[in-house]
Amino acid sequence: MTVEQAVWAEKHRPSKLNEVIGQKEQVNRMKRWVNDDTMPHLLLHGPAGTGKTASAVAFAKEKYGDDWRQNLIQMNASDDRGIETVREDIKSKAMQSASGKYQFKILYLDESDSLTKDAQAALRRVMEQYSDQTRFILSCNYPSKLIDPIQSRCTPLPFRRLDDSEIEELLTRILEKEDVEYEESAVGKIVEYVQGDARRAVQTLQTSVEDGELTENIIQVVGGQVDDETVEEMISKCFNGQMDEAHEMVVTEILPNVTDYSRFTNTLMKKIQYSDELPRDVRFYAISQIGDLERNIMEGCNPHTQINSYLCQLQNARYASIPNYSDE
Ligand SMILES: Nc1ncnc2c1ncn2[C@@H]1O[C@H](COP(=O)(O)OP(=O)(O)OP(=O)(O)O)[C@@H](O)[C@H]1O
Ligand SMILES: [Mg+2]
Repeated sequence: MTVEQAVWAEKHRPSKLNEVIGQKEQVNRMKRWVNDDTMPHLLLHGPAGTGKTASAVAFAKEKYGDDWRQNLIQMNASDDRGIETVREDIKSKAMQSASGKYQFKILYLDESDSLTKDAQAALRRVMEQYSDQTRFILSCNYPSKLIDPIQSRCTPLPFRRLDDSEIEELLTRILEKEDVEYEESAVGKIVEYVQGDARRAVQTLQTSVEDGELTENIIQVVGGQVDDETVEEMISKCFNGQMDEAHEMVVTEILPNVTDYSRFTNTLMKKIQYSDELPRDVRFYAISQIGDLERNIMEGCNPHTQINSYLCQLQNARYASIPNYSDE
């Protein structure tokens, strides 16, 4: 692979903790452990593409200098989720001493929430037994899937989606390094699309740049979404009693275009949350039901039925709104 073709998400991965954008509190805590061997086991958790792996790698580079590769062992729990993996692979790596003058090495276990409960129980023992030579950094999206004894053995570092301004900073930094001419409105489109996922931001940027230029016209934002205005229009129809039209939009606009339903429900939530058309009681009710909508779709229920049913609930809430309800 030539440098030009390199994957930007790798090429522009932060190599120092100071280059990690956002996540200030988490990064500051990690900085303290660069020269301090009292580092505990860590649990980095939060949404995909927010810098968990990138921060751990940057941390290892700062802590171990040229020896970082030997002292940061990266494993992925989702490759093999059972107890044997922990008893064999993970244990044998945890037993090894650090390379060079260091007291301990780091074992980074990605997707630790995909381990079975038995495997987690075995992991807990390995963490205890070999903590002198190995500190674990567990990484996951859903920490509640980890058993309590694992959670309580780790210092949690929650990673959050990046703010729009942070994504913008990341994109413009890369555009400048890559010497790309860009329209600010095009950067804004990507920021809006990725909703705080830095990895997706960098990937979208790379596929959108053509011949050293980024313009709004060439943004190849891949499918899986509808624009915010469509979602807004559907909600508005539903709240204004035009249910047939709202249901029609589900068939013609939403179902054919959305593949990422988590993103869709997120947009729906934001639009309702910030709507000034709706009284507060309706907004609260509508938002309270979005969790069920998302979970049902994620668990495999038919999105058509789920969204239609949700829209009916919205309309009912609108008409059942407390008479003379005031936001004051
Ligand atoms: N906070 C950040 N600052 C700068 N770049 C970032 C940040 N977060 C992510 N990136 C970019 O996105 C890429 C992917 O991020 P990373 O692998 O750290 O995500 P992650 O949080 O570990 O996601 P997952 O949960 O999928 O493992 C990085 O290589 C980097 O290019
Ligand atoms: Mg990761």
